Amino acid sequence: MKFLILNGPNINMVGIREKTIYGTMDFNEMISIIQTEAAKRHVEVDCYQSNHEGDLVDAIQNAYFNKLDGIVINPAAYTHTSVAIADAIKAISPIPVVEIHLSDIKEREAFRHHSYCAPYCIEQIKGFGPQGYVMAMDALIKYIEEKI
Ligand code: DQA
Repeated sequence: MKFLILNGPNINMVGIREKTIYGTMDFNEMISIIQTEAAKRHVEVDCYQSNHEGDLVDAIQNAYFNKLDGIVINPAAYTHTSVAIADAIKAISPIPVVEIHLSDIKEREAFRHHSYCAPYCIEQIKGFGPQGYVMAMDALIKYIEEKI
């Protein structure tokens, strides 16, 4: 299996930004844990981060054209604003997508409660920090294996 691990704006700043919310682990360490855990599961991962909405849309479309098996996405602030990213996720159906957030967006400001993407994702995982990415990969593996 091959997954795209897609991170949106400011996720490259974890470990620097709002440490009480996002923790102290830096972005490279987080990606390295994701890669290690993916390898243990015999999953290949492409990890990509962008601060730009259109780049994220391109990455989602490329996952479709490159025949990837699933996507783990943290759309970050675009979660709450982006119809374009939500449409891209919808467009590549039936490729399964899991939405993940480091923090528990339901316990934060009201504007973070709504996700444009969630209706088109098989699951939303929130509030588990970097471990959430591993949980998201496991959710994709389970979903794909149950479908076969
Ligand atoms: C986030 C939550 C978003 O509301 C926020 O804009 C982020 C990170 C998270 O991982 O908890 O940048 O997606």
